[in-house]
Amino acid sequence: MKLLKDRIRSEGRALNEDILKVDSFINHQVDMELMNAIGKDIADHFRDKKVTKVVTIESSGIPPAAMVAMSLGVPLVILKKQGSKVLNEDMIQTVVTSFTKGNTYELSLCTRFISESDHVLFVDDFLANGEAATGTVRLLRQLHATIAGIGILIEKSFMPGRSKLEDAGFEVYSLARIKRLEKGVIEFLDD
Ligand code: G4P
Repeated sequence: MKLLKDRIRSEGRALNEDILKVDSFINHQVDMELMNAIGKDIADHFRDKKVTKVVTIESSGIPPAAMVAMSLGVPLVILKKQGSKVLNEDMIQTVVTSFTKGNTYELSLCTRFISESDHVLFVDDFLANGEAATGTVRLLRQLHATIAGIGILIEKSFMPGRSKLEDAGFEVYSLARIKRLEKGVIEFLDD
């Protein structure tokens, strides 16, 4: 998506070979006009997949996923990183390890919001190792939902996330695919 790639070129900052800072328009301050355009683009791509719910993970996935859900006219379900069994006894959980952040967290989903009749589109801001997406898929499969596809804003194509997900049979649609990062350098796959 040209709009997103241009914005990454002008405002994104490669801190090193692994990390791209996009905090001025995606994950700290959020450009809602950009999110609106992103939402329409991802929704259009998956429009014929009979999507019934959009699913994302708190927190940075929420703005783009909300716009996708709005464009498709379906609810947004937000997976929690801290599920409380006190507040909600019908939760299922799975453990996800983030290599980028070097931590492990529990991803929670309330069973009332996804059923076997759902066709779910998963939307997230970054795809790196694919751990968040595969954790989400584990929860959705436990509830026998169909996974309609995966929509990503920024894919770090030099990491194994996409191939893991494609090998598992999922369609991955990424708006910006990054081939290489280096301090001060951002290269896209299709440059
Ligand atoms: P994976 O799910 O694909 O395996 O990715 P990984 O665990 O390695 O990274 C997950 C977290 O790190 C996500 O944030 C993701 O947004 C963030 N992340 C990954 N690569 C980058 C990057 O190059 N730049 C930035 N800015 N963030 C990156 P999270 O833990 O879910 O936190 P939140 O911000 O959504 O709350």
